Amino acid sequence: MAATATASPSRHLTILSSLLLLLLSTLQPSLATTRKLTALVQEQPLLLKYHNGPLLKGNTTVNLIWYGAFSASQHAVVVDFLRSLTSSKSSSSSPSVASWWLTTARYRGGPCNLLVGRQLVDDKCSLGKRLSNAQLAALASRAGHGKNQINVVLTSADVAVDGFCSRCGTHGSGSAKSGGKFAYAWVGNAVSQCPGQCAWPFHQPIYGPQGPPLVAPSGDVGVDGMIINLATVLAGTVTNPFNNGYFQGPPEAPLEAVSACTGIFGKGAYPGYPGAVLVEKASGASYNAIGVAGRKYLLPAMWDPTTSTCKTLV
Ligand SMILES: *[C@@H]1O[C@H](CO)[C@@H](O)[C@H](O)[C@H]1NC(C)=O
Repeated sequence: MAATATASPSRHLTILSSLLLLLLSTLQPSLATTRKLTALVQEQPLLLKYHNGPLLKGNTTVNLIWYGAFSASQHAVVVDFLRSLTSSKSSSSSPSVASWWLTTARYRGGPCNLLVGRQLVDDKCSLGKRLSNAQLAALASRAGHGKNQINVVLTSADVAVDGFCSRCGTHGSGSAKSGGKFAYAWVGNAVSQCPGQCAWPFHQPIYGPQGPPLVAPSGDVGVDGMIINLATVLAGTVTNPFNNGYFQGPPEAPLEAVSACTGIFGKGAYPGYPGAVLVEKASGASYNAIGVAGRKYLLPAMWDPTTSTCKTLV
C-alpha cells in the first residue's frame, strides 16, 4: 500500500501545515491567517521530486472489481469517467476530462492512454463487509497480474475498509506472477460512512472551515465523491506506480500528482472553499470538466511538472 487520497479539507490543512513548515524554514514568519498562507503557498512553486523509477505510460488497461451493490447509474458514472479520460470525442466540449488527464503526459515518458478492460462483479461481498488491506490486494489480483494494467477495487457504501475515512482511496502494487509488479487501487463509496471526509465538497466537511456543500454533478454525492478519489488515485498510480516515481515527502506518506493539490478544484481555493467552478443553471450542479455523453464531473487540481503548480481546469 502506498499513497492515500482524501478530498477532505482537514487533509488539505495537513498538507498546508507541512508546506508551512517548509515555508517557515525559508521565509519571513509574517503569516497570520490560513487564507493568506494559501495565497502564499499557491505562489510558491511546489516540487514533486522524481525518484528515478518507472511510470505507467502508453496503453494501460484499467480493470474494475465492483465489490458490493452499485446501481446501474453509479456504474455508468464511473465507467463514463474512465472512458472520458482518453476519449478524443470529449475534447470538443471544453473544459474536457481528457484535457485534465493530459497533464499526466507532462510527467516524463509521454502519455498514458487508459483503456477500460475487464469488469468483475462481487455484489454478494464474498470476503464480507469489512475489508483489510490484504483483502483489497487479494480482490485486486482477481483481475490478473499483468504489466501495464491497473486493477481498481470499488467498494459500495455498506462496505467498511480498514482506514476508510482517514483515507478515501489508496493505490499500491503487488508482485506479478511472471515477475515484475502490477498496480492496483481502491476507492470506496463514503456516502454513509464519512461523506464529510471523502465526499467533500458535496457534503459539509467534518473538520475545519465550513462552507456550503456543492451540488453533485450526477446528483449522487457518494459516486461523485468516488470520482474525485478515483481521479486522485489514478493520477497517483500512473505517476508513482511503485513508490519510486514522482512524489514529495516520505515514501510512506507521499504527496503525489493530485494529493499534493488536495482541496483545490478551481481558482481561489482555500481550506473549506474548493474554488470557483462552473455551475449548471438548471440543476445548480458544480463541475469543472465535461466527459463522454456530455457528462459533467468535478475533478481535483493536478500538479503540472512543467510549471510546478497545481493546475485547475477552470
Ligand atoms: C493502443 O490502444 C489503441 C486503442 O485500443 C490501439 O489502436 C493501439 O494500437 C494501441 N497501441 C499499442 C502500441 O498497443
